Amino acid sequence: MENNTEPVKTITLTIDDLPVTVPEGTTILDAAQTIDHAIPAICYHDATTANGLCRVCVVDVNGGRLLQPACILPCQDGMVVQTRNERVERSRRTILEMLNSAVDLAQAPTVQTLLDDYQIDRGRFPGSERREHVLLDDNPFYVRDYSQCLLCWRCVQVCADDAQYTFALTWGDRGFHTHISTAFQVDMPESSCVFCGQCVGVCPTGALKPKIEFGLEHGWSLEQIRENTRRGRKRKP
Ligand code: SF4
Ligand code: FES
Repeated sequence: MENNTEPVKTITLTIDDLPVTVPEGTTILDAAQTIDHAIPAICYHDATTANGLCRVCVVDVNGGRLLQPACILPCQDGMVVQTRNERVERSRRTILEMLNSAVDLAQAPTVQTLLDDYQIDRGRFPGSERREHVLLDDNPFYVRDYSQCLLCWRCVQVCADDAQYTFALTWGDRGFHTHISTAFQVDMPESSCVFCGQCVGVCPTGALKPKIEFGLEHGWSLEQIRENTRRGRKRKP
């Protein structure tokens, strides 16, 4: 029988002075993983389309002027990539310091680990503006606290064509005030949300939280949990 399987084209490059050969289309992030050189990532998630938003995964490619996001950049033959040089580390540290200055990351354990690993100066930007949003508690299933949102976009994508095809989430406002929202900022029950919970599952921070978990953290009684998980309590500060 004729074999129509195309041979897999491979790419050979250098990562941190080590030769690496991977199938064509492999990102630098995944290629580095094959030699156990983990590149830090925040917005990237295996289950969602990578968008290159947080930039914490930047690497030095061929000594170019601009650092490149490893989560979206495919490997090319002959590339010379540095994932850990001084320029890369300084850039990642600054990104983490800026993120920490604007967003409440207290309930983001993976990000906290990165802040420690990169020994960031947590007071580098004193007086910086913080992203402040009221807690949105408008449905029986989960609460939304966008003060803790680092705009990784995972929830938007898992709600859209990465998984659920519900398209309940988008963004509101612009620039520093950009935030995740329903279309026209309606309450969740008035949106197309089907309360599948996938957004909560991929959120790397405390921005999206199951209502029961929230209630237990805030000392709700069983009666309060029962009552509040049967209806939204409307927007509460
Ligand atoms: S709510 Fe969570 S998943 Fe959605 S963008 Fe913010 S941090 Fe990411
Ligand atoms: S992990 Fe690559 S840009 Fe966020």
